[in-house]
Amino acid sequence: MLRYVTTNPGKVREAERYLPNDSIARLDFDYPEIQATELGPIAAQGAREAYRHADEPVLVDDAGLFVEGLDGFPGPYSSYVEETLGIERVHDIAADLDDRRAAFRCVLGYCDGDDFAASPDPVDRGDRNAAAAAGPDEGDPEAAPDALPVKLFEGYVPGRIVAPRGEGGFGYDPIFEHDGETLAEMSTDRKNAISHRGRALEKFAEWYADR
Ligand code: IMP
Repeated sequence: MLRYVTTNPGKVREAERYLPNDSIARLDFDYPEIQATELGPIAAQGAREAYRHADEPVLVDDAGLFVEGLDGFPGPYSSYVEETLGIERVHDIAADLDDRRAAFRCVLGYCDGDDFAASPDPVDRGDRNAAAAAGPDEGDPEAAPDALPVKLFEGYVPGRIVAPRGEGGFGYDPIFEHDGETLAEMSTDRKNAISHRGRALEKFAEWYADR
């Protein structure tokens, strides 16, 4: 059984749409997130921590909003910025920009303890931040090549920052417009069809089907 590591049951329901029946279940495990400027190392380290905890195949996701005119801010800090500044102030900051283009990005990290030597795609085997964060047994960068292999899948949705509209969704949805609608104005089906997480899940499901 594959475990989606999240406190959010909605993410598991979304994943179920892409995977065979009864092949995924939620694992409520709150792993400590490392600090990094990219989503990949955060998802990779989360997947390692979760696999060590669960001893079963795990899928971890990390997502964020990247505003072009702010050099990608808030990016990996999106949760913190949502909790501290709030989405209205993120909109206010972006409102002064000439370039309000933005993207939601999601990286899924998969770990089942096995090597992915046969896989042609990016495999995070030795991120040094991640290894250092993993604990004393992997704190030595020389030991990083032995870190648990993690396979990453990325999805994104382009859009732009607008004044808040819509009642649905969560997080930054009301200030993110894609194709004339904010994500908070879309039906769940429509959002899932275009979302960053949906795109990453689609790539994962295709790869996982052959595994
Ligand atoms: P997480 O990685 O799912 O915890 O999300 C990190 C941050 O990005 C949180 O502030 C979320 O509210 C925000 N976020 C992630 N996905 C979405 C989305 O689909 N819509 C709006 N905000 C999102």
